[in-house]
Amino acid sequence: MKGLILSGGKGTRLYPLTYTRAKQLLPVANKPVLFRVIEAIRDAGIREIAIVIGDTGPQVREAVGDGSQFGDVEITYIEQDAPRGLAHAVKIAQPFMGDERFVMFLGDNVIQGGISRLISEFEHHPEWHSQIVLKEVKDPRSFGVAKLADNGHIEYLIEKPAEPPSNLALVGIYMFDHHVFEAVNAIQPSKRGELEITDAIQWLITNGYTVFPYVHPGWWIDTGKARDMLEANSHVLEELTPYVAGTVDDHSEIDSRVTIEEGAEIINSVIRGPSIIGKHCKIINSYIGPFTSIYHDVTVEHSEIERSMVLEHSVLRNVPTRLYDSLIGRNADVDISDKRPFAMKLTLGDYSKVRLLKE
Ligand code: DAU
Repeated sequence: MKGLILSGGKGTRLYPLTYTRAKQLLPVANKPVLFRVIEAIRDAGIREIAIVIGDTGPQVREAVGDGSQFGDVEITYIEQDAPRGLAHAVKIAQPFMGDERFVMFLGDNVIQGGISRLISEFEHHPEWHSQIVLKEVKDPRSFGVAKLADNGHIEYLIEKPAEPPSNLALVGIYMFDHHVFEAVNAIQPSKRGELEITDAIQWLITNGYTVFPYVHPGWWIDTGKARDMLEANSHVLEELTPYVAGTVDDHSEIDSRVTIEEGAEIINSVIRGPSIIGKHCKIINSYIGPFTSIYHDVTVEHSEIERSMVLEHSVLRNVPTRLYDSLIGRNADVDISDKRPFAMKLTLGDYSKVRLLKE
């Protein structure tokens, strides 16, 4: 089998973090989501992986390279001229796939437990033309949704329905054989102007091909929005095997679920896990609460932060209130005002969000 990862598209729902950065490269527990996807496919025994890239292609190429950093995988890039839909991405991947069966994984999805079992199940059922992964969610309106019949077979699929026929959302992991190329060539763009993979799978069902549903029991997160990023971060942190490679001074207190990466220094601070402090960070006279990821080269001094993510090269200094549920981008600088007027002074990027405390 081969692998196909979708890493094009626009990350508008994650602005401003994705204003200049591919959303798939945002880290969850200090590792880009895209790297987690590549590792999940590799761990399922797949070597040949193609990544569909768009506007942010150069960044993705730079971060992933030829794949050798992931061990025994070979990466091929497929350029998509515009985000014309998931089924369009499949269409342009046909020369790479040839007649081989493949798994398609959306580059911004994080799933518990990997996909090895799914892949081996699909490999052992050559009579299945496709397998899709479903997950029960509270509000499926922003996903593809499946209606199953009483016998467990798929009755029909529908993309982002206003009135969902069930709570089963399509997870961004799909397995196909070459019949999917017939499907993507047969369907028409949806109302939002995209070739929908949900419509292509519906085409397979309508035309008598076997599409097998698998309901995933663990957690799954589409990291499309800021809230989802924080949730994915919390889930992954909970499953991390902690280690301490940096230095922690005698005045600091860290608990057993804290990871301190190489070159990080913890000075007179308290860190509660699960949390991770990235390479070459400096945490001084501060409190880092549970479910927090501090990415590489960040300084936190005289500040408190909990259930949050801070990206690389940012500085938090003398922040007077504890930060909570916050997503702080790269090279951000949060400090106290020490010159008159003693007022709040903000330099915020486009689409930034600030929630101030009421007096
Ligand atoms: O996350 C699961 C959902 O993903 C499914 O439930 C939906 O059925 C499916 O349509 C998809 O919905 P989204 O609206 O969340 O897809 P999004 O536009 O966010 O794109 C998903 C990934 O694919 C993302 O990493 C960007 C990439 N992509 C997207 C498009 C439209 C491409 O590489 N090329 C594209 O043309």
